[in-house]
Amino acid sequence: MDRSAQSHDSMAAMEPVPGASSHGADPHGWHWPAALTVCSGRQALSLVARWCRAHAITTALLPAYHCETMATPFWLEAMAVRPVAVDGRLQFDPAALHSAVDACAGPAAILTCRVGAMTVTEELAQELSRARQLGHLVVEDATHSLLDELIDPFPLDLAASNPEPPADIRIASLRKLLPVPDGAWITTAPGITLDPLRSRGAQDEAVTRTGLELLEAQHAWRAQPIISSTEPGSAPPECAALLTAMARADAALDATLSPAPAGPVTLTMLARIDLPRWALAWRRANSRLCSLLAGDVRPLNAGRACFPLIRSTHSTSIDKSLAAHGAFAPQYWSRPSWLSEDADWPEDVLSIDVAPDDTEQRAVTLATAIAAALVPA
Ligand SMILES: Cc1ncc(COP(=O)(O)O)c(C=O)c1O
Repeated sequence: MDRSAQSHDSMAAMEPVPGASSHGADPHGWHWPAALTVCSGRQALSLVARWCRAHAITTALLPAYHCETMATPFWLEAMAVRPVAVDGRLQFDPAALHSAVDACAGPAAILTCRVGAMTVTEELAQELSRARQLGHLVVEDATHSLLDELIDPFPLDLAASNPEPPADIRIASLRKLLPVPDGAWITTAPGITLDPLRSRGAQDEAVTRTGLELLEAQHAWRAQPIISSTEPGSAPPECAALLTAMARADAALDATLSPAPAGPVTLTMLARIDLPRWALAWRRANSRLCSLLAGDVRPLNAGRACFPLIRSTHSTSIDKSLAAHGAFAPQYWSRPSWLSEDADWPEDVLSIDVAPDDTEQRAVTLATAIAAALVPA
């Protein structure tokens, strides 16, 4: 692919990311400070998929462990989506990626994601670099790692020995780790010009509105002393309100996939967040919960600036026990229905609902609910 021939006009037109330009040197000059802020992660991936279609990329390689919203934009552009087996870090298995890349008849988009902000193995970094050299497009979904990399600037440190940027396009949905109703960043390596955005409309305002309602419902839920009972159905009314708000927010996001700019409410909220401080708070909250876990529970990303991810042969009963207390997995990635039956899928992974502003007591109660699920009935 000859990306150098394309115009850089839209890069110049990108507005600065509120709050993101204040930290850390960016040796490549194309990191988040130059990002475009769109309405959602799905919209950012739609921009990627549209770029792919316009440049004759008709295949997307995705880690088999992904959320459906990561695949949908590629399906919608009529691209072939191929799952690639993942390793213990829930990222591409390097050998499987090597084979999948070699099996591609033409250039492919390769969507990589540091799930739970886990680091990338050198082998995977090498495979991604090799794929780029072969002319494939590497896209990083940094939704889970955008805060952790403020503290541990991977992949920039790996790039120190490699003058190339670590991916061709990076995107990140913001609402998973930041207290904002919606929004996503997308940034591209020089020479990649994205489609222009349409103007915001009523559907985008609905996304922001339902996102704000979800933040309020989360706040109300966390403000009250949960976890007093383990009886199913005993959760207080704020719990049902939270679930309804979650479903509404997701439905509003699904209703507007064509890319538009993020709205002023989101940009203002973003500008007020001290990102490095928020990242440290996430790390502390994650560490606190993980340090309380014992027995058949393996934390995957202890101390990362992301919600904790665990693996356990008891993950189903842990999930039930937490749900009985009204704690819901912040990341619920079900097995994609289109995966073949023999494809490996990490059934035992669970994310835990811990947030930076949680109390010590909440962590203790969650850990107690997890421990209770390990005891045979
Ligand atoms: C890793 C990842 N990427 C992208 C998305 C989509 O982002 P959004 O919900 O902002 O559309 C999600 C979740 O929703 C996600 O978990």
